[in-house]
Amino acid sequence: MLQVAELTEIKDFLVGLAEEAGVIISGKSGKEKFDDKKNSVDLVTAIDKLVESIVSEKISAKYPNYLFIGEETYVEGSTKLTDAPTFIVDPIDGTTNFIHNFPYSCISLGFSVNKEPAVGVIYNPHLKLMFSAVAGQGAYLNGTLLPKLTEKPLTLQGSIIALESGSDRDGELFDIKMETFRSLLDKNHGFIHGFRSFGSAAMNICHVATGQLDSYWEGGCQMWDVCAGWVILKETGGLIVSGNRDKWENSIDSRVYLFVRGAPQQDQTTFVKQFWNNVKGELKY
Ligand code: IPD
Ligand code: CA
Repeated sequence: MLQVAELTEIKDFLVGLAEEAGVIISGKSGKEKFDDKKNSVDLVTAIDKLVESIVSEKISAKYPNYLFIGEETYVEGSTKLTDAPTFIVDPIDGTTNFIHNFPYSCISLGFSVNKEPAVGVIYNPHLKLMFSAVAGQGAYLNGTLLPKLTEKPLTLQGSIIALESGSDRDGELFDIKMETFRSLLDKNHGFIHGFRSFGSAAMNICHVATGQLDSYWEGGCQMWDVCAGWVILKETGGLIVSGNRDKWENSIDSRVYLFVRGAPQQDQTTFVKQFWNNVKGELKY
């Protein structure tokens, strides 16, 4: 692991980059044409690519020995996360929001060492929310330390949970998600207080870190969607396990996640087991 001083310097550098990128993202929100990626609900704009190229150039100029993985330059099957120190970047998380000018797009800048998230910076320039964290050093929102939520009780039934449909809108993966949503809401099953869908994995995780949301479940998102948020959530006492049943260990590139806010450990354990009882199949990617 790198020293705290170097990780803190990286965090400060990423905060500066996020502020620069935020000017571009907020200035272009709602004004861009878009292209399809996998299908016509998986979208990208020229600004996603522009922000990634700016960020990647600045990172490689300052940290030429560290690796870089970004959503817009990732090559499926050949880009692999390794133990080497790696910047993991989503230039715009919440691209659909960005296209619609719904103020929930952000930049997500993560840094991993030995495949473990070590630094996270997430900036929503519309709402001016700057989240940042270094592993072991606490998480901050706009410079104020976020409290650890380890004493705040948690139950599944009394929770609001972020759920996202993702861009697979047919087949088994889609069915599993929809049946799981239904079971969580159903009066005779989870009967949770409600669900929310902000359209940005990074923002969902940040709201779990603050305790405004209790949990977030998703299959299909990628390491750049979760790396930065992972550190921020962990630093507030959060727990991250697999979104598939009975897998307590998780890794940033697993693509299936259940994020749980800080709470007494017993409450988190019970929450996870009860949540998994509502998961209607195995999400495989
Ligand atoms: C997506 C968003 C969305 C989540 C998807 C992600 P993008 O990222 O975070 O909320 O449901 O899984 O791919 O495409 O806006 O960068
Ligand atoms: Ca993105």
